[in-house]
Amino acid sequence: MRQFGLIGYPLGHSFSKGYFTEKFKREGINDAAYELYPLQRIDELPQLVAQTPQLAGLNVTIPYKEQVIPYLSSLHDSAQKVGAVNVIKREGEQLIGYNSDYFGFKLSLQEWLGNKLNNLKALVLGTGGAAKAVGAALDDLEVPYQVVSRQSGPDTLSYAQLHQQPYLLLQHRLIINTTPLGMQPNLSSSPDLPYEQLGPDYYLYDLVYNPAETQFMKEGTKRGASAKNGLQMLHLQAEKAWKIWNGE
Ligand SMILES: NC(=O)c1ccc[n+]([C@@H]2O[C@H](COP(=O)([O-])OP(=O)(O)OC[C@H]3O[C@@H](n4cnc5c(N)ncnc54)[C@H](OP(=O)(O)O)[C@@H]3O)[C@@H](O)[C@H]2O)c1
Repeated sequence: MRQFGLIGYPLGHSFSKGYFTEKFKREGINDAAYELYPLQRIDELPQLVAQTPQLAGLNVTIPYKEQVIPYLSSLHDSAQKVGAVNVIKREGEQLIGYNSDYFGFKLSLQEWLGNKLNNLKALVLGTGGAAKAVGAALDDLEVPYQVVSRQSGPDTLSYAQLHQQPYLLLQHRLIINTTPLGMQPNLSSSPDLPYEQLGPDYYLYDLVYNPAETQFMKEGTKRGASAKNGLQMLHLQAEKAWKIWNGE
């Protein structure tokens, strides 16, 4: 039996456990199981690994995507680029860190916008782990972008600046929400943007997938913009994790 699982804390509802348990059943994968491993502290990881010889791979979630790095033997290029790990592969004594959010976002964006990406500049809303994965993918795809944060800094725009300087939204027509705003149960919240400026030439990508249409997406679509939620990215990052664990 090969054991897989998720580390993080606290672990409430987990997409990954449901996804992999269902996948194993559907595809007749009988030699694998998926467990939740809530770790109160990341320094409990070596003990978990030592006590679970059948452990073959882990997903990593909040708050350990960065804290886990010192516990790993090496980082794959994807994790190096992003500076965060959401997939660990065990190879004998070695733990290798990967970032499959980066793969999932990049592939889904390419599929959605294709050649249109050549003419777009992006705004990335938020500065957390998801924003870093998005930034690394945009770098690869050579899509110029500006990061937007509640705190302005030398390299970040503030939401107030977007309201005060309309040319910023005119120049950046791909807007990517990497904040948790709009996620269940806070359905009515959305990033503080001058939405009245949006129109048919805009593309709104929300990493939130629950609900399927967020307030952010609605603000765009009602003005003719195109919008996409985070569900495809979520599925792609999970499938990428499976490929990583299986050496594909
Ligand atoms: N679809 C997928 O596959 C996928 C993958 C990964 C993550 N996600 C989703 O992406 C979201 C972010 O994940 P994360 O791990 O990066 O989370 P995070 O680190 O908790 O937050 C991301 C950023 O959002 C901003 N933010 C937080 N609360 C805010 C508020 N009340 N108002 C405005 N901005 C706020 C913060 O940036 P500033 O402080 O700079 O403003 C923060 O750094 C989550 O909803 C997660 O479910 C989806």
